[in-house]
Amino acid sequence: MVDTAAHHWILVGVDGSSSSLHATRWAAHEAARRHIPLRLFHACVLPPAAPRVPISLPGGAVEALVEYGHQILRHAERVALDTEPGIEVHRDLRVGPAAGRLIDESEAARLVVLGSRGLGGFEGMLAGSVSVGVAAHGHCPVVVVRGRTLDDPPPTSGPVVVGVDGSPASEAALEFAFDAATMRGVPLVAVHTWTDMSAGETWSVLPFDIDYDAVAEDERLLLAERLAGWREKYPDVELEQRVVRNRPVRGLLEESEGAQLVVVGSRGRTPLKGVGLGSTSQALLHHGTCPVAVVRP
Ligand SMILES: Nc1ncnc2c1ncn2[C@@H]1O[C@H](COP(=O)(O)OP(=O)(O)OP(=O)(O)O)[C@@H](O)[C@H]1O
Ligand SMILES: [Mg+2]
Repeated sequence: MVDTAAHHWILVGVDGSSSSLHATRWAAHEAARRHIPLRLFHACVLPPAAPRVPISLPGGAVEALVEYGHQILRHAERVALDTEPGIEVHRDLRVGPAAGRLIDESEAARLVVLGSRGLGGFEGMLAGSVSVGVAAHGHCPVVVVRGRTLDDPPPTSGPVVVGVDGSPASEAALEFAFDAATMRGVPLVAVHTWTDMSAGETWSVLPFDIDYDAVAEDERLLLAERLAGWREKYPDVELEQRVVRNRPVRGLLEESEGAQLVVVGSRGRTPLKGVGLGSTSQALLHHGTCPVAVVRP
């Protein structure tokens, strides 16, 4: 077990799925880049006991599941060390529901890394409940590792892309993204999208005559202003600023094609009370073609 004082490790959720092994490899590289330990974590989920139908597990069932969980962890450990032989790896197993346990454990982690899918779900499902739940309610940044398809490994080349909307969460996303670009020595593409009134069916009926070129220019200035401080703090990062006339989700999906990581805030400028994730972040978790980092303020 790791000394929990320092918030100095990367927590990886491991459930035996190929997706969680992609996450393990991605996290092993990240641990090597950051020079911090990896903590492989498995929540051993016991079969649900229906409240009105008392069922008791056969003798030895819990022990068998726990032993299976340890096997999953030992295999992930080998995968991590094959990927990055020099890193420090720890294994940890707890009994209980996966999302809840991972959210609790995220409080003491620097970063949580998960696969996009696990062993459950159904064919065609794009992101599992654990990855979406932890991304929405985790206490630290959460990376959901994705490739083009469930089986594809995540891309390892290309820029880092970050979505900027001026919300507190997107400021936190910027810091994470600049760090990620510096560590990888790759360019950072900062994307700010804005939507014109003709883009929405409802708005298109408005009889306004708006100078959209002037709006676009304003949005460009806004983005440059927001990035000025960060540029100074990270002078070595090659920064590209893109102001895109599109809906945030479409803009970010398009701009993150060919990227190796896309970074977004957990919430946007219009957070709904009780909803952990904004719609843009949710859509990227389901449809992104590269790993998605969700960062909270
Ligand atoms: N029991 C677990 N212990 C640790 N991490 C887990 C566990 N279950 C899932 N994870 C993590 O979450 C990722 C996504 O799995 P998730 O469970 O969300 O998808 P799923 O199994 O396809 O769908 P669902 O469980 O919602 O039916 C996994 O790749 C893994 O990183
Ligand atoms: Mg699952």
